[in-house]
Amino acid sequence: MASGTVVVVGGTRGLGREVAQFYADRGRDVVVTGREQAGAEASAAEIGGSTRGVGLDLAEPHTIAERLADVGDVEYLVLAAIERDANTVRDYDIEAAMRLVTLKLVGYTAVVHALVQRFSEDAAILIFGGLARDRPYPGSTTVTTVNGAVTSLVRTLVIELAPTRVNALHPAIVGDSPQWRDMPPERFEALVQRTPTGRLVTMAEIVDASRFLLENQAINGINLAVDGGWLCM
Ligand SMILES: NC(=O)c1ccc[n+]([C@@H]2O[C@H](COP(=O)([O-])OP(=O)(O)OC[C@H]3O[C@@H](n4cnc5c(N)ncnc54)[C@H](OP(=O)(O)O)[C@@H]3O)[C@@H](O)[C@H]2O)c1
Repeated sequence: MASGTVVVVGGTRGLGREVAQFYADRGRDVVVTGREQAGAEASAAEIGGSTRGVGLDLAEPHTIAERLADVGDVEYLVLAAIERDANTVRDYDIEAAMRLVTLKLVGYTAVVHALVQRFSEDAAILIFGGLARDRPYPGSTTVTTVNGAVTSLVRTLVIELAPTRVNALHPAIVGDSPQWRDMPPERFEALVQRTPTGRLVTMAEIVDASRFLLENQAINGINLAVDGGWLCM
């Protein structure tokens, strides 16, 4: 039986929105967040059902608790928001790096802090990292760093928040996600060649893996790569 809201931080677009849509379609109370209140409300209306939009900027962590003040009991918290930062150590954009590190590490933790008193007995948290954690590319320095830190964040939250379960999902490039579906065909093909399953991961498969990590009550402290076997190559 459902026992609280599904909160998806970064639920206005992309993978977070797919997870939000799944639970909204099954009658759950859902909160989706994005940077702007109006944008979050518009996305919530498109998702439909009992979905509400909240605007909050994870890069402004001091404002987060107030923005989430009227969220009720929480069963599932999904932390999926990202602002991508192409940043190399040789040509280092410190402001961009600080923004992503703040957003993904301090901001995510501040959301948990703001909601922790409202977690239901069987609450679970799902954090989105990414395969750049294990497979860096030129320009991924900040993304790789924060995705690596997601692994550690999972482990400390498992200990601090027990019995609340905490897991992370690390997708490879999701071929039909809004971020990547319009990539040049030659890049798409090169990625397929490096994936043992012979195709890229899909958004439906990310939703399926998200459900497994959120709903299976034995699963705790897992950092799950969803990559079609990319890490074996
Ligand atoms: N897509 C992939 O193939 C892929 C691969 C590996 C890992 N991932 C990871 O999966 C997660 C989702 O990726 P995605 O591609 O679905 O993302 P996306 O389509 O770019 O959506 C990003 C979401 O984050 C929100 N957001 C951005 N900046 C924010 C901020 N400062 N404060 C609060 N919310 C903010 C956006 O809201 P608004 O735009 O409404 O403000 C939006 O809802 C990310 O953590 C990403 O690193 C994705």
